[in-house]
Amino acid sequence: MGNTSFIRHRRPRYAEFSRKLVKETQLSAENLVYPIFVQEEEGDTALSMLPGISRYGGKALINHVKEAYARGIPLVSLFPVVNQALKTETCNEAFSSDNLICRTIKDLKNAIPEIGLMADVALDPYNPNGQDGFVDTDGTVANDPTVEALVKQSKVLADAGADVLGPSDMMDGRIGLIREMLEHEGHHRTILLSYAAKYASALYGPFRNAVGSSNSLVGDKKSYQMDPANRMEAIREIRTDLEEGADWVMIKPGHTYLDIITECKSTFGVPTFAYHVSGEYAMWAFAAQHGVIDRKKSLMEILLSFRRAGCDGILSYAAFEAADIL
Ligand code: PBG
Repeated sequence: MGNTSFIRHRRPRYAEFSRKLVKETQLSAENLVYPIFVQEEEGDTALSMLPGISRYGGKALINHVKEAYARGIPLVSLFPVVNQALKTETCNEAFSSDNLICRTIKDLKNAIPEIGLMADVALDPYNPNGQDGFVDTDGTVANDPTVEALVKQSKVLADAGADVLGPSDMMDGRIGLIREMLEHEGHHRTILLSYAAKYASALYGPFRNAVGSSNSLVGDKKSYQMDPANRMEAIREIRTDLEEGADWVMIKPGHTYLDIITECKSTFGVPTFAYHVSGEYAMWAFAAQHGVIDRKKSLMEILLSFRRAGCDGILSYAAFEAADIL
């Protein structure tokens, strides 16, 4: 006696042609956003905690971004490695129209006008204590003075030509005030990709190491980044940022927060992004390096899982390598 119901879910799985036809999710290089660490020095510096990833400066940076664009990546996200001497409690370097990121945006726009350029909005690269904003007397980050600073930072980045601004700081009210400034300044086309639900995660270590803020971080970020235990709170965060004028929203981390991505996409139906963060990248990269998992197949599966969960765009350090495969 066989299967009397005649339901055989395996029928379309036997042949390549039918598997292709019923594939529910597609992944392409066009879904990828590539985060790049920018250094002042010409050339590239390999990052020990992110195998395969380097910081780039000068011509080497321009060439690398050209190669990313040639592989079909539509948007790169720039993170500065700021010299220690320029880090101050007032974070003045963040508001300088001549800072590393502003100069880099102009150089890249000249060299590769077609690629989208995203700039991070947060004070941590400029702050000697590694916090995303100004530290208050009680040791937590002061919300409103920080938001004022983020608006100033956003202005120099938009003036320099950033296409997308990514406030990654988790202060309250910043999206509305940044949007107001952008409209007032005539930057009607600047896209705001809000890090709307960003968790106080243990998976940011290699990033902090890459930008040189890991040794200096004083305290933690729990008074502004979310508790990993919370799901409904993410929905409230996302709703507020959308109401304040965010065009797109981001969930971060991504690979360990796929449920939040799905919840966001099904609740709001808006362009949803997620950040395959440095610790998540490192878990994959080190396992692949040691032959524990198949490098290419596991990467495709990880990135596909973001798409299946509901992501439009995926920020990943593996974007360059993935685009090569795709
Ligand atoms: C800080 C910032 C962080 C990351 C991006 N922007 C770290 C943090 O919040 O401390 C982490 C990204 C990653 O781990 O890949 N504004």
